[in-house]
Amino acid sequence: MLKRDDNLKLTQTGPGTPMGDLFRYFWIPALLSAELPEPDCPPKRLDILGEPLLAFKDSNNQVGIIDRRCPHRGADLYYGRNEECGIRCVYHGWKFDINGNCVDLPTAPKDSNFKEKIRVTAYPTQELAGFIWIYMGPRKNKLPEIPKQEFTLLPSSHVFISKKWQECNWAQSLEGGIDTAHLSFLHMPAPIHNKENITTNVVSGAALSDQDGDNRIRWVRDDPCPKFTVLQHPAGLLLGAARRADNEDIYWRTTQYLMPNYAYAPNAFPGETQHGQCWVPIDDTSCWIFCYSWNPDRALTAEEREKFTKGFSIHAEVDTEFLPLRRQSNDYLMNRNDQKINTYTGIQGVSEQDAAIQNSQGPIVDRSREHLGQTDVGIIEFRKLILSAADKLHSGQAPCNAVADDFAVQCGGAVAHKDISLEEVMKQRFDHATGYVGSRYGLTGTNN
Ligand code: FES
Ligand SMILES: [Fe+2]
Repeated sequence: MLKRDDNLKLTQTGPGTPMGDLFRYFWIPALLSAELPEPDCPPKRLDILGEPLLAFKDSNNQVGIIDRRCPHRGADLYYGRNEECGIRCVYHGWKFDINGNCVDLPTAPKDSNFKEKIRVTAYPTQELAGFIWIYMGPRKNKLPEIPKQEFTLLPSSHVFISKKWQECNWAQSLEGGIDTAHLSFLHMPAPIHNKENITTNVVSGAALSDQDGDNRIRWVRDDPCPKFTVLQHPAGLLLGAARRADNEDIYWRTTQYLMPNYAYAPNAFPGETQHGQCWVPIDDTSCWIFCYSWNPDRALTAEEREKFTKGFSIHAEVDTEFLPLRRQSNDYLMNRNDQKINTYTGIQGVSEQDAAIQNSQGPIVDRSREHLGQTDVGIIEFRKLILSAADKLHSGQAPCNAVADDFAVQCGGAVAHKDISLEEVMKQRFDHATGYVGSRYGLTGTNN
């Protein structure tokens, strides 16, 4: 459990809050590049960390993200006209460029210098790996680099990205991402009388894909009490969940939590595709989740892209505004009959199953009422790390020692003898005790 004050500190990211300041210390994904496909295209309304913003692409193909409120009398620039290198407020015609300068102010006399005194807040942006990133922090010093997660280092042929809306606070949804104990229920086939039939029931929405072996399903189903080992590294935490496998073996599922708002899925065996997510608060009770799947060794196939687009693993089936088709307002189209005979939830899609249960905790879960146990160790360590990082920043220190290169990590599944430590399992799989793979890309992380 958390004290109420800590719960507020963890969950509030608006301007001037400790966690809001921590988020603003890093570059964060703001939208997909595909949402602004060409110069002077329609702008996108965007709320991030409780700030009302507008993203637009100007006539020179440059992206700007500015405060959405017109500094004249507060009209919403979303209704503005994107024209000749600026967005013009359609109330009285004030016009702003991507850097926030007022470039036309027709309501002032021609000889007035009023225009020079008017600005809107504009944040630095970069396009990388299919995302438009934003930096909302102080600009006294040199800007940081975008974290070099592996998917940002690969050709686009090897990566698939998507975006989905979630109706709860960012932190409880991220905690769902690092809570790998829940696989034994939330994403499992429903138990039926004849257990031998179990794999034939992995149809709609079970987490373990057709590329997973039946063994993995059985090990997860049969051991709902994985033992957690948590290892800290410069960019975050490696969380290992150990379940009994066959004979003397352990089935490890390892997850990465990366500062401040990323988590990777624990499934991938060697050669399989990795999956990661990034939680970006819209406000304190909703967030965007940016999702990415990447295969370090090969291009993704057209069939894989089609499968992800239709909703698979972390990717939800969404509408044109990135709202999941199965969401709280329609009870995720839950099917009680399916719940009896097919999946635990009766909800189609791993992403939708996660969203349903995370949203069901409430817009901001009250962590002072929890009863945490040993399968929650990873969540406890995540909270400790991020709260202490926010405190450090508040007291004028760097919140973490990571450099951008430190974020090039992998994780996934492995089977090993029960006497082998997590560090050794990781070394055998990734040549590194906490999954650092940056050296494959010529990077030099501090933990190399
Ligand atoms: S409110 Fe925007 S120009 Fe007047
Ligand atoms: Fe899940």
